[in-house]
Amino acid sequence: MLKKNGFKYIENKKENIISFINDIEKIIDKNFDPKKNLNSLSFDNFNKLIFKTQNEINRKHHPINFAKRFPNIFKRELSSDKFYFQHYFYLRATRPANKVKGKQSINFHRETFQGPKWFKNIFNLWIPIKNCSINNSLEYYPKSHKFILNKDFSIEEIDLPIKKRSYSHKVGNLYREKKINFKKNISPKKLFKKGKTVLFSGELIHGNVINKANKIRFSLDARLILQKNFKRHIIQGSNNKAYFKKVIL
Ligand SMILES: [Fe+2]
Repeated sequence: MLKKNGFKYIENKKENIISFINDIEKIIDKNFDPKKNLNSLSFDNFNKLIFKTQNEINRKHHPINFAKRFPNIFKRELSSDKFYFQHYFYLRATRPANKVKGKQSINFHRETFQGPKWFKNIFNLWIPIKNCSINNSLEYYPKSHKFILNKDFSIEEIDLPIKKRSYSHKVGNLYREKKINFKKNISPKKLFKKGKTVLFSGELIHGNVINKANKIRFSLDARLILQKNFKRHIIQGSNNKAYFKKVIL
């Protein structure tokens, strides 16, 4: 499935990921007080709150702990017990588009757009935490993990109003992005199913859906790569630490 479609859904209930989601939800509820008007916070102040919460999550539940807590998922889906896992979860919190001005979503991309070439073998693990629905989560272009640059699509570079090293940057917003122009007329599909975590190829062209629901939606993600495809250690922009850590299950 992962090779053919470029993604695989994992059932949260069956794998007991629900218990992990509940742990993260508690941290989110403590930091994102629903009594406060979080929609009125500036983009950078909201991202400061995400960054603080993101660090708290990583202190208690970083991806390596996740892998050790749910080893069977990785053994089964990767057919391997040795891989490199991003040593840091990104917390994505997207406010409702109708209540907040400005860009809140991440446009369509591949992970190689912002990383080294060997990121073509990377996988993303995306875990829904709170208020995730078909109206505010991920979208993808079917079979796009097999698309070839300059044959199936071209890219153009665009600068964005995000400052390097700002809180907005530290929670995963890009200061420059590559806009994709497809050569064929194709439409994206939802990369979301209720109650499911998604494991997908970093080459699958994906992006955030604008949050059309009424509440802030929360998810976690981290990247991983098989040992045989790992090339060298790189530094994580958010915390200046090693990006990957080796996992042996
Ligand atoms: Fe991505």
